[in-house]
Amino acid sequence: MLKDMINTLNTAIIVAAGSGSRLASQIPKQFLKLNGREILSYSVQTFLEHPEIHKVIIVTSAVYLRSVTSSYPECQVVPGGPTRQDSVSNGLSACSKNTQFVLVHDAARPLIPAYIIDACLQKLTTYDGVAPAITPTDSMVQITSQGFDNLDRDTLRIVQTPQCFKLNILRQAHATGKLDTDEMGLVKQTHASAKLGFVPGAPETMKITHSDDLKIAEIFLGKMEVKQHQ
Ligand code: C5P
Repeated sequence: MLKDMINTLNTAIIVAAGSGSRLASQIPKQFLKLNGREILSYSVQTFLEHPEIHKVIIVTSAVYLRSVTSSYPECQVVPGGPTRQDSVSNGLSACSKNTQFVLVHDAARPLIPAYIIDACLQKLTTYDGVAPAITPTDSMVQITSQGFDNLDRDTLRIVQTPQCFKLNILRQAHATGKLDTDEMGLVKQTHASAKLGFVPGAPETMKITHSDDLKIAEIFLGKMEVKQHQ
């Protein structure tokens, strides 16, 4: 296979093993429909079509393993774990040894513009880890026992995915057994000298969490399709 002949691979790991309990749906959110298509299928297609992504690994729960394997024959499908970090870890174990960069993406974020993947890969040539992030536009406060403190939103970021790393750095971070909410946090915690940075994210890369998010994502999707056809 041509892909096995490439010396260094860039691999997207799409984590899709969550139960999506906040959406009050029996079906996990990555398998719900957005404009008639499974949410998972959008990010799979974006990564498969990207010229610099050579392999796509989908991590999903045991009960969906067979159906995901048959729906996405171009991808490697591996079982997830009880937490997102466990699922990422299983995806990392499935990466071939000639993997250079690994891009960890939430299946619950269907709309990922290709230019964000471009920007992450470009920045990874000089950084150890990169993620897209957006600056909040609302006022931000931190609730305290006294009431609340106002935070300076210009110093805050909403961190999205794909979170992108040199494979060995992310593998080593996982091997420490430390826990964190995302890969950027874990690598920062475990590799004090790692050079980590952000690229501008996109509002459409929102994570589908609550049922209203599906309606918002449909509006973003409509705008993306209009742009593509202009
Ligand atoms: O639950 P949350 O919205 O933070 O999940 C983010 C992503 O991580 C989702 O795409 C979800 O499917 C995935 N996940 C996973 N394995 C878990 C929990 C979450 O792959 N055990």
